[in-house]
Amino acid sequence: MLNIIIIIITFFLITIDYVDSQTELTLPTLPYAYNALEPVLSEYLMRLHHDKHFQMYTNKSNIILKKMFTDTQSDNKLKEIVKQPIEIILTQLEYLPHQYQLSLRYNGGGYFNHKLFFSMLKTPTSTVDENKPIGPLLEAIEKNFGSFDKFKQLFSSASYEFFGSGWIWLYIDAQTKRLILNFTVNQDNPIMYDKNHIILLCIDLWEHAYYPVYENRRNEYIENFWRIINWSFVNQLYIEGQIKRSDL
Ligand SMILES: [Fe+2]
Repeated sequence: MLNIIIIIITFFLITIDYVDSQTELTLPTLPYAYNALEPVLSEYLMRLHHDKHFQMYTNKSNIILKKMFTDTQSDNKLKEIVKQPIEIILTQLEYLPHQYQLSLRYNGGGYFNHKLFFSMLKTPTSTVDENKPIGPLLEAIEKNFGSFDKFKQLFSSASYEFFGSGWIWLYIDAQTKRLILNFTVNQDNPIMYDKNHIILLCIDLWEHAYYPVYENRRNEYIENFWRIINWSFVNQLYIEGQIKRSDL
């Protein structure tokens, strides 16, 4: 009987702890081996990028989320926000107190962006031309940009011309419903500007994403990026976006 009481109490304590705590992010394992993207991205680079940089964004986000949740100055609305998934929290940054806002924008954005980026890569094809989008996504790209080659040219040009640390994105614009190419600086991303944007593709243009392999030859990294895009995954994002947004 005593054992049953202890089990029940433990269950309630775990439940209370689960409900009454902030979101805690975990570092996702790569969906492929560390050396799977060679020679485009080396094992050394992937270990550094994933195990050090991505891990750092994860750890720092967790520290900020916990601080916000335990801060005696935090009101109930804020405590409710920090219990949400990170993709929701990032759409509500304006509600966060100033002392947390910038650091969560940077580290939480870093977490979200890298989670997505590493998910949309795969073993490289031998040539750039062998790797092409499929299905409804290809149709949407052709409709919005004229052809896949034209889109590739625009995405690459935007990447070549970008200065500093940041990202280039392809997403479905929340207002126009069209596919849009755009950039963000630092670890910003499109959903921070409109929660209804649907992100499809991104390239990490931070030095840490290419320097160990390409050093100052960033354009070569951008050219080779086309060999490692997992178009099946990106097509799936497009299809899920259509389901989520019935107005698209
Ligand atoms: Fe990165």
